[in-house]
Amino acid sequence: MKAGVGLFSALALFLLMGAVLTQKPRPKKPTRRPTTRRPSVPQPAEPAQPEPMEPTDFPPVILGPPSMYTDCPRECSCTPSYPNALNCENRNIRTIPVIPSRTHYLYLQNNYISEVTAESFINASDIRWINLANNRIHRIDKNVFQKVPALLYLYAQRNNLKEVPAGLPASLEQLRLGRNRISKIPAGSFSRMGNLTLLDLYHNQLSDSDMGKTTFKDLKSLMQLNLANNILKKMPAGIPNGLIQLFLDRNRIDDVPKDYFDGFTHLAFVRLNYNQLSDKGLPKTVFNITTLLDLQLSHNQLASVPLFNGHLEHLHLDHNSIESINGTQICPYSLEADPNDHSLVPRLRYLRLDGNHLSPPIPLDVIMCFRHLHSIVI
Ligand SMILES: *[C@@H]1O[C@H](CO)[C@@H](O)[C@H](O)[C@H]1NC(C)=O
Ligand SMILES: *[C@@H]1O[C@H](CO)[C@@H](O)[C@H](O)[C@H]1NC(C)=O
Ligand SMILES: *[C@@H]1O[C@H](CO)[C@@H](O)[C@H](O)[C@H]1NC(C)=O
Ligand SMILES: *[C@@H]1O[C@H](CO)[C@@H](O)[C@H](O)[C@H]1NC(C)=O
Repeated sequence: MKAGVGLFSALALFLLMGAVLTQKPRPKKPTRRPTTRRPSVPQPAEPAQPEPMEPTDFPPVILGPPSMYTDCPRECSCTPSYPNALNCENRNIRTIPVIPSRTHYLYLQNNYISEVTAESFINASDIRWINLANNRIHRIDKNVFQKVPALLYLYAQRNNLKEVPAGLPASLEQLRLGRNRISKIPAGSFSRMGNLTLLDLYHNQLSDSDMGKTTFKDLKSLMQLNLANNILKKMPAGIPNGLIQLFLDRNRIDDVPKDYFDGFTHLAFVRLNYNQLSDKGLPKTVFNITTLLDLQLSHNQLASVPLFNGHLEHLHLDHNSIESINGTQICPYSLEADPNDHSLVPRLRYLRLDGNHLSPPIPLDVIMCFRHLHSIVI
């Protein structure tokens, strides 16, 4: 039992680190050459000038030197020390070359690719990772995925996709589709994907009607779900209950159903910053979740501090309308409990309350209850 808990906190810590690391600035898109369009002012007839060969604002593809691998596309680089990696990122590529069959890791991020078709993958059946981030992709042909049956990671964030691509392989473990224009999740998109652990759909145009009760139901291994920056008004239904991390920041959610978190067994990180939650929409004990470590409810309209579990370590309540905080009421344990039993001391270490209608000092009953608190921002 102890070992299980240790493993779980190690995993939670790992995920937390992952969350921090993913906030690193992304590589910049190659700078566009300034367009040379003429002003649309009517011009007097001039002697005919030669038209540019291919009017375009795309800079030319960057070709590398010939490789020792005869199958290495010129717009990519193939390194003998990593024979399974094909590096084609930052090359101004518009069309994906034919991928050599030895490729496991394919890097195509930061290019100008607009479409992904099966021809490029005709021989690429061993691919495990594809990074297509930061392109102009509006379509991924579903036949692509039949060519790559061992695909584990598909990164296609920062593109122009309007729906979740069809035919995603059952083998996928990570799917990143953030910062697209997705407003549709076709029925069955995530069925069969029992190994998916990470699904990132942040910064799209998803609304409640795009997510039915069954949309996520087959994602039995899902640990991280990011639906931040969409246009949800309701908490998404049918979330797999082994989830560890649920991010719903910057939506329009105004209530959380009373039993919403019932049955979740590992939920540790919940973010609902920048929504429209008020006391009315939050049942009193909805966040009393024993596994929860980090709860973020910043920038909502809460007037009081919601109840939470003694295991919670981080609580963000800044920028709400909280006018008072009563340590006796929010203390997860009775203050009369045995003061020498450390397992009863609430684990809250970090509390943000700035941007409310509160002013120092911190009430004594808060300090008495939360004895592990070492950072409080008012
Ligand atoms: C596919 O891979 C095989 C084996 O590596 C190779 O002989 C063949 O030429 C490749 N076909 C294409 C279209 O690259
Ligand atoms: C899911 O993962 C398990 C364990 O790694 C593996 O045996 C199984 O083949 C995977 N399923 C699919 C559809 O790839
Ligand atoms: C919160 O949950 C714990 C453990 O499940 C339970 O013992 C406690 O009574 C709950 N607190 C409230 C206020 O419901
Ligand atoms: C805090 O709540 C407790 C229990 O509800 C109450 O007895 C006490 O007077 C409250 N404290 C303040 C300062 O309002």
